[in-house]
Amino acid sequence: RRIVVLISGSGSNLQALIDAQSHDRLGGEIVAVISNEPDAYGLKRALEAGIEAVALPHREYDSRDAYDGALIKVIERHEPDLIVLAGFMRILTPRFVQRFLGKMLNIHPSLLPAYQGLNTHARALADGVKQHGCSVHFVTEELDGGPVVLQAELNVTNEDTVETLKEKVHAREHLIFPIAVQWFLQGRLQYSAENATMDGHPL
Ligand code: GRF
Repeated sequence: RRIVVLISGSGSNLQALIDAQSHDRLGGEIVAVISNEPDAYGLKRALEAGIEAVALPHREYDSRDAYDGALIKVIERHEPDLIVLAGFMRILTPRFVQRFLGKMLNIHPSLLPAYQGLNTHARALADGVKQHGCSVHFVTEELDGGPVVLQAELNVTNEDTVETLKEKVHAREHLIFPIAVQWFLQGRLQYSAENATMDGHPL
């Protein structure tokens, strides 16, 4: 089973996937890592693990559609069973999403459907929520709006700041993302427009 990972930054989630793979806990092989930011540290992590690392800078394309067209081509060359968005900070065009619908998982730093979009930790703190966390979900055309597959929850304390929440959420992301990827590659997860199912049961 072949996995392509898209990143934009540090790639700590990518690292968690690489580590899971090296312990035979991923259920597949990461065949390429693609970043829209050529300086992303995650590209170094890929190279260190012996994985093909591709920089595809969005700034070299004059439209979102042209960029996504190029991205589709690079991805298709690798014939992936699954595309993993691990901190890929770009909004995808409908054409892109349609092309790979049901085969894309994203990780998001909130308990979706709460706090779609950016600055999730600051917004959660400002609202005084008692629970926060992260979600793995199928990618659809609605930003952070696709069916949720797996979540990790944590309690927010009075001492928490954006920084502490970020750290705690990240640690949980690293736990749940490889699990969700493995479920998908084992054929246990299915996408439908209303919800995701696991072993035929709605999640
Ligand atoms: C994570 O917080 C993830 O939820 C969000 O982007 C961040 C990526 O972090 N989509 P990293 O690059 O994996 O360290």
